[in-house]
Amino acid sequence: MEIRKVAVLGAGLMGHGIAQVAAQVAKYDVYLRDIKQEFLDKGMSMINNSLQIFLKKGTITENEVKETLARIHPTLDLRETVADADLIIEAVPENLKLKKEILSEVDKLAKPDAVLASNTSSISITELASATTRPEKFCGVHFFNPPQLMKLIEIIRGAKTSDETISTIVEVANKMQKESVIVKKDCAGFIVNRILVPALNEAVSLVWEGIAEPEDIDKAIKLGLNWPMGPITLLDYLGLDTTLSIAEVLQNDLDPKYRPCPLLRQMVRAGLWGRKTGKGFYDWTKK
Ligand code: 3HC
Repeated sequence: MEIRKVAVLGAGLMGHGIAQVAAQVAKYDVYLRDIKQEFLDKGMSMINNSLQIFLKKGTITENEVKETLARIHPTLDLRETVADADLIIEAVPENLKLKKEILSEVDKLAKPDAVLASNTSSISITELASATTRPEKFCGVHFFNPPQLMKLIEIIRGAKTSDETISTIVEVANKMQKESVIVKKDCAGFIVNRILVPALNEAVSLVWEGIAEPEDIDKAIKLGLNWPMGPITLLDYLGLDTTLSIAEVLQNDLDPKYRPCPLLRQMVRAGLWGRKTGKGFYDWTKK
């Protein structure tokens, strides 16, 4: 199926980046939808900042900046967003009930042959697909943060996803100049988060048990494993709230051994979510 118009639901940390890659690299016509004007404004300003970085580096021209922005239509109107969309990518907060509600609504508004995909980082694709009447046209498309720079997309097959849907999404990933991997069975955490989140949780346990300071844990992993950023910085970068919710899904769906560290839960309760709230393990208000 040929994709021309893409709808992205949610203009947050992931949604804005996905919309940008779809418009800038794949050159799709993109409708970016959120529920409040301030969220849309913030998303568009993040897109603008990112495009300005690429422009300064000489990766793209002034004209490409203008063309990319012209291809992105921010809107509050769900009906307008999904009308005529060939592909709808859901990137709303990581909450099962919320995701199912929006997907069920979108399913009613979208054209019958439109493909629906979720950028969920851990929720079951089969369960999300069950909120629609087209589970064969539903799959996971998991981007990595920041979507503008990270090369990978995990494509996740739900229990009823058709081969045609997978091929369509592989083609979309190619057009976005991303590398893709297929997760053959719908399983919590997919590939990357199944490995990453327990590692991040272990880093929090090292702090909780008083074994090392966050700075030294970061230094050890950066220099000892060549990670581009240490696990504690990465936690602040991704959001402790997001990491906790993924850890809980791993624990509930896979095995109790994925139990989140009490410190992770405590910090989330205290609103110390990382960069997005200004403070996590580190203070981002001065950076
Ligand atoms: N758009 C365009 N350019 C950007 C950008 C953006 N959104 N964000 C950063 N950049 C540019 C910077 O300007 C900089 O350019 P320069 O090298 O020419 O100066 C370059 O990217 C590097 O940025 P920084 O110097 O600010 O920071 P870093 O050197 O640390 O690089 C990074 C940033 C690419 C994010 C790197 O630190 C990294 O790869 N970190 C790990 C990220 C990661 O692991 N992501 C996956 C997390 S898991 C996930 O997302 C799954 C989810 O479900 C939880």
